[in-house]
Amino acid sequence: MEFAEVVRRRRMVRSYTDAPVDREIVDRALANATRAPSAGFSQGWGFLVLDTPDDVRRYWAATTDGADEPDTWLRGMRRAPVVIVPCSSKTAYLSRYAEPDKGWTDRDESRWPVPFWHMDAAMASLLILQTAVDEGLGACFFGIPPDRIAAFKAEFGVPEEYTPIGAITVGHRIEDTGPDGSVARGRRPAEEVVHRGGW
Ligand SMILES: Cc1cc2nc3c(=O)[nH]c(=O)nc-3n(C[C@H](O)[C@H](O)[C@H](O)COP(=O)(O)O)c2cc1C
Repeated sequence: MEFAEVVRRRRMVRSYTDAPVDREIVDRALANATRAPSAGFSQGWGFLVLDTPDDVRRYWAATTDGADEPDTWLRGMRRAPVVIVPCSSKTAYLSRYAEPDKGWTDRDESRWPVPFWHMDAAMASLLILQTAVDEGLGACFFGIPPDRIAAFKAEFGVPEEYTPIGAITVGHRIEDTGPDGSVARGRRPAEEVVHRGGW
């Protein structure tokens, strides 16, 4: 698919068929993720891949309240055969920037204009979303509730220094489930958000 087409077609997909996803596609998405830029080439990311029915079930059990009556969002998302959890390590960035070529040996976090560790994992996440579109699949990036993060990390043995920045479902999309609440807001046009030569 043309790059412009991938960009134009990408939408968060929240409802999936039961069809499995080829392992090679997931591997391609992850390989593309590792092509993302990273501050100081730190690459302080890690991607937890859950691609068996049992692992996916464990994901949802750890991150939701297990209600008997899941809402439409959860029913649709839970059918996705693959969940990828991009994680970031602040420690990796503080250590990388303490190296001689950077020299931030005090590891002072106030040196960082924004948390580059999360940014880099987010850039990698977009490449996963775009790869899914390129392969004719759907994907959705979504947040993990803060009060579920400890349970999620314990369930999957995620090392202490890694923080999940969210999660990504991947699967075969159910066509045309209509726009969700946020999309109804409409896309802000470039003229409104671009400030050329001054704000
Ligand atoms: C950081 C981030 C967090 C998001 N969290 C959620 C979420 O928790 N649940 C959800 O359904 N969608 C989530 N989304 C998807 C947005 O709602 C979606 O990107 C937005 O409405 C624009 O729609 P589009 O991506 O389909 O163009 C998130 C997107 C981003 C970038």
